[in-house]
Amino acid sequence: MTANLNLPSASPAVVRLTRFTKTELSEIVGDGEDPFGVAWAGLTWRAKEEHFGVRRDGRLVAHTGLVTVPLAVGSVETRAVGVGGVVVAPGLRGQGLARIVMTAALEHARTKGPRYGLLFCMPHLLPLYQRLGWQELHEEVEVEQPADTTAVMPLRSMWTPLREGARWPVGPVRLRSLPM
Ligand SMILES: CC(C)(COP(=O)(O)OP(=O)(O)OC[C@H]1O[C@@H](n2cnc3c(N)ncnc32)[C@H](O)[C@@H]1OP(=O)(O)O)[C@@H](O)C(=O)NCCC(=O)NCCS
Repeated sequence: MTANLNLPSASPAVVRLTRFTKTELSEIVGDGEDPFGVAWAGLTWRAKEEHFGVRRDGRLVAHTGLVTVPLAVGSVETRAVGVGGVVVAPGLRGQGLARIVMTAALEHARTKGPRYGLLFCMPHLLPLYQRLGWQELHEEVEVEQPADTTAVMPLRSMWTPLREGARWPVGPVRLRSLPM
């Protein structure tokens, strides 16, 4: 598969990855601790099911993962395509690689059925994701955690429509899944 047609023709191709384990993550970021900067939240995260990557000179340099998650918003039971594991090699940031890999992943997400994309991020990344078409969800989001417990998501929550005219429903948000 190749990157979105709206991207410059020189954009690197986005490929589907058959797996994204610690090995692939290390290929992108090296062996540092906490590459997403979210360890402080103390949450258990859900693995993503579909993986999109960019390789440069054979090395994996960017990734975005997707996993469909059930959730309730007010009285509405629905599903969202959760986006996570967005990461670019440290030396190659600021060159549009996140846009390229996110655009391809979102293009695929639009074929999956749910009306919404959902992600969680650190506050300093809000402007970056807004630039990519996401908007902040100001409602508190409750997420599942192991052993039948729940937690209030301490990161910022963002959503994007996956279908024309999709509007986020009103009401408290309960993710019926580990967060992604
Ligand atoms: C977050 C991360 C993936 C961004 O990757 P990147 O390749 O540097 O991002 P891009 O260069 O594609 O930037 C995406 C867009 O956001 C814009 N942008 C970047 N920083 C911005 C900021 N502070 N304010 C507004 N827009 C910003 C870029 O200009 C670009 O928009 P454009 O294509 O219209 O110019 C990368 O910094 C990273 O891997 N960080 C560590 C892991 C992490 O925190 N992941 C996020 C988990 S939620």
